[in-house]
Amino acid sequence: MQSVLDYLTAHRARFEEELCEYLRLPSVSAQTDHDCDTRATADWLMKHCRAIGLKARKHTTDFHPIVTASTPKRAGRRPHFLVYGHYDVQPPDPLEEWDTPPFEPTIRKGAVYARGATDNKGQHFAHLKAVEAFLQTGSELPCDLTFVIEGEEEVGSESLVKFLRQKKKDLQCDAVVVSDTGMPSKKHPALTYSLRGVTALEVTVRGPKADLHSGIYGGSVDNPALVLCQMLAALRDKRGRIAVPGFYDRAQKLTRYEREQMKRLPISAAQYRRLLGVKALFGEMGYTHHEQRSARPTLEINGLTSGYQGEGSKTIVPAWASAKITCRLVPNQDPCEINRLLKRQLKKLCPPSVKLEIEDGHGAEAYHVPPTGPQAQVALEALREAFGHEPVILREGGSIPIINEFKKVLGADSLLLGLALPDDNLHSPNEKFDLDCFHNGAEMSARLWPKLAAI
Ligand code: BES
Ligand code: ZN
Repeated sequence: MQSVLDYLTAHRARFEEELCEYLRLPSVSAQTDHDCDTRATADWLMKHCRAIGLKARKHTTDFHPIVTASTPKRAGRRPHFLVYGHYDVQPPDPLEEWDTPPFEPTIRKGAVYARGATDNKGQHFAHLKAVEAFLQTGSELPCDLTFVIEGEEEVGSESLVKFLRQKKKDLQCDAVVVSDTGMPSKKHPALTYSLRGVTALEVTVRGPKADLHSGIYGGSVDNPALVLCQMLAALRDKRGRIAVPGFYDRAQKLTRYEREQMKRLPISAAQYRRLLGVKALFGEMGYTHHEQRSARPTLEINGLTSGYQGEGSKTIVPAWASAKITCRLVPNQDPCEINRLLKRQLKKLCPPSVKLEIEDGHGAEAYHVPPTGPQAQVALEALREAFGHEPVILREGGSIPIINEFKKVLGADSLLLGLALPDDNLHSPNEKFDLDCFHNGAEMSARLWPKLAAI
């Protein structure tokens, strides 16, 4: 193990340069203009995996390719673990809010700034560097590893779901290790044992057949933008509760133990308010900010569009208005059922003066595996040793839908060992990845395999 750790220390500068090379590739999965960049990124990754000694393949799919890379086959049966990650990134917009361009990685103040730095290229790259250290120092890796790195995580992972079913036999494993979540601070490395689920839909209300002069017609026809705003406003009450009948019926309650644990997390309400730059925090009454953002269901408007958005004014009654909506879900809530309840409520709220159209989006259940098993225990040890601080266990609010499929199709639990810091700006301008998290993450990965294999 010492030679592996020494290798990781000796090659830090090169690892950072390689990560920058990876980050320079604009693999935006949601935008078809970037399809060739996404393919180029998969190629780069496959070649990189081969260069460090893995057996790598690129699998074409109906959409973005999947890259798999395995440790060389050896005689005898060893435990097998998957490492999951995604090379696709969120769109970088709004571009003008970046201090340096999103696909020109820049290192400042101990962090690398680029779209995809923390979500998720930097995080899975740390695991690749750990395996490289084993392979290049000729150290015995006591288990077989297969990296599965997809290009559609930010758009629903459809191809990977199919791929898991097709390759079920090859991918049988003892656990999946995923670094695609966060930690409260560098002094609080974390094991996440619960993620929220999600259900998405897009609602459009249509009024007149075209935009109308608001002076000539305004007042005699309903305004779709106003109608939609009134409908959406009615979905939440003053206490921050979602006003959709049945929404909370099945939602699993927090245990007393969990609420006690959450009180011990760093980041007070005041610090959190400052971090986000809001005037005041707002959320469901009766819950702390940690609880609200990780263990309670929510409804958000992700995007709202209607009428004239250009320079200056334009006096019209817009022909239509639309909103993209997502709900985050907690254990026991069924995404299809919540979607149905929400649609029913929107129909009820819609006046006869407009036409209502609703289009379904993606959905995923919440993930919840108590952190009490032996694999979780050794993961906590690896975190403690690599970061030099006592780890915390977390529930987090984001979603990684594919981990439910790992459970359903492969029967495998996921160990969520996130390396993102609260100010890493995931999905926002100026995304970054802290280089201490990168190097400590690689060390954590190196320390993890012998421990997991010994169970
Ligand atoms: N890495 C995030 C998920 C995440 C972030 C989990 C922080 C916990 C803490 C992932 O890349 C992501 O953004 N997932 C999407 C999934 C959605 C498209 C279904 C999300 O949560 O919005
Ligand atoms: Zn993401």
